[in-house]
Amino acid sequence: MWMKLVILSISAYICTAHLCMLSPPQRTALNDINKAGSDSCILLAGPCGKTKPSMNMLYLVAGQNFTVVFQKNLDHFDSASPGYWSVSIGKESGTLKELFRTADTATPSLTVYSANITIPEQTGKNMVIQTQYVTKNPKAPAAFYQCADVAVIKKAEY
Ligand SMILES: *[C@@H]1O[C@H](CO)[C@@H](O)[C@H](O)[C@H]1NC(C)=O
Ligand SMILES: *[C@@H]1O[C@H](CO)[C@@H](O)[C@H](O)[C@H]1NC(C)=O
Repeated sequence: MWMKLVILSISAYICTAHLCMLSPPQRTALNDINKAGSDSCILLAGPCGKTKPSMNMLYLVAGQNFTVVFQKNLDHFDSASPGYWSVSIGKESGTLKELFRTADTATPSLTVYSANITIPEQTGKNMVIQTQYVTKNPKAPAAFYQCADVAVIKKAEY
């Protein structure tokens, strides 16, 4: 009986706090994203939630401005220990460079955020733009991840 309760509470806990990345679109499907707690938006392992690179690579030019759009699919704000959102770029296998960070606040589930970034000079194919929701909430998973596949080319090649 206890074991059953523990398992039940673990699964309830796993199914809370979600992050969806809308632009560039996350690797995996964006189904049911108008519903808080969408199964499309729950990836708990860094850096990209153990997803495979997709063939749909978005080409960006070094130095260009780009707006990343993501959604707090399910709220996990803890006023005693506020978390944050961040957007990074780089090779999935390497160190990602953080380009944007903002504090989590008491915004409701389904709130959409936008982040203006400037694409850095590091060029290459098979790179990712990664969004993280770091909850810092002891009752929630530590972080949620989404990645989109991008290639960064030099301005001269454009
Ligand atoms: C990118 O945005 C910054 C800040 O708004 C601006 O100063 C800069 O000129 C923009 N760069 C390009 C290439 O549009
Ligand atoms: C983001 O960039 C757009 C222009 O592309 C600008 O209108 C908007 O004010 C910027 N947002 C922030 C928060 O700087």
